[in-house]
Amino acid sequence: MRRTLIAGNWKSNGRKAGLETFLEVLGGGLASASAEILICPPYVYLSKAVALAPEGVSIGAQNCSVEQEGAFTGEVTAGMLADCEVGAVILGHSERRELFSESSELVASKVKRANTEGLMAIVCVGESLEEREKGLAEAVVLEQVRQSLQGVGDASGIVLAYEPVWAIGTGKTASAEDAQNMHAAIRRCLREQYAEQADGIRILYGGSVKGGNAAELFAKPDIDGALVGGASLDAKEFLQIIAAG
Ligand code: PGA
Repeated sequence: MRRTLIAGNWKSNGRKAGLETFLEVLGGGLASASAEILICPPYVYLSKAVALAPEGVSIGAQNCSVEQEGAFTGEVTAGMLADCEVGAVILGHSERRELFSESSELVASKVKRANTEGLMAIVCVGESLEEREKGLAEAVVLEQVRQSLQGVGDASGIVLAYEPVWAIGTGKTASAEDAQNMHAAIRRCLREQYAEQADGIRILYGGSVKGGNAAELFAKPDIDGALVGGASLDAKEFLQIIAAG
């Protein structure tokens, strides 16, 4: 069985005081939650988040260096994250692919680095609106899956996140049907590489997930949770998503 995972990606948002309040409100509302919960604040707040995280909440990062260590000014390595008791890292988010020119090849190298350090890697894939309108969505996404996992031999440390780029931060969500179809295609693709492990790999949906649309998405057989941006900044809204898991 795949346990639902609900991950909040704070991106470059939030401040110390807000993090404290957020974790307090979150902790107060988790009594009946069955999903696994992960919060990914900016790097500088990770240690604080680890220290304050209520029971049942893990802390993740939004990126890591591809390098092990050395002269790479401004980079944070997977080993440093593990050292700070960070348990997971989001890799290949579409904003990193688009704004920081990260390729799927680079993402695959980062996944290996993260896994070596014992971090769970949340590997993001997703098509643009133009690609969808041209009927290329599935081909683009599956190619990203293959390339972003190239050489990753063991799937026990990975989670996939399907995030159609046109649905991120726009208020538009893929219909639960369309999302399920893509998730099923991703799982078929994972079976090519991870015959035995594929059915255990979680595939999250991301893109304008909110309290109001989460239950419909989570009801689909191959949607194993959500990667949540905007709605993860408000603890009450995030708790509504958690309640749907
Ligand atoms: P959103 O972002 O929920 O604000 O659309 C999702 C993401 O970028 O992971």
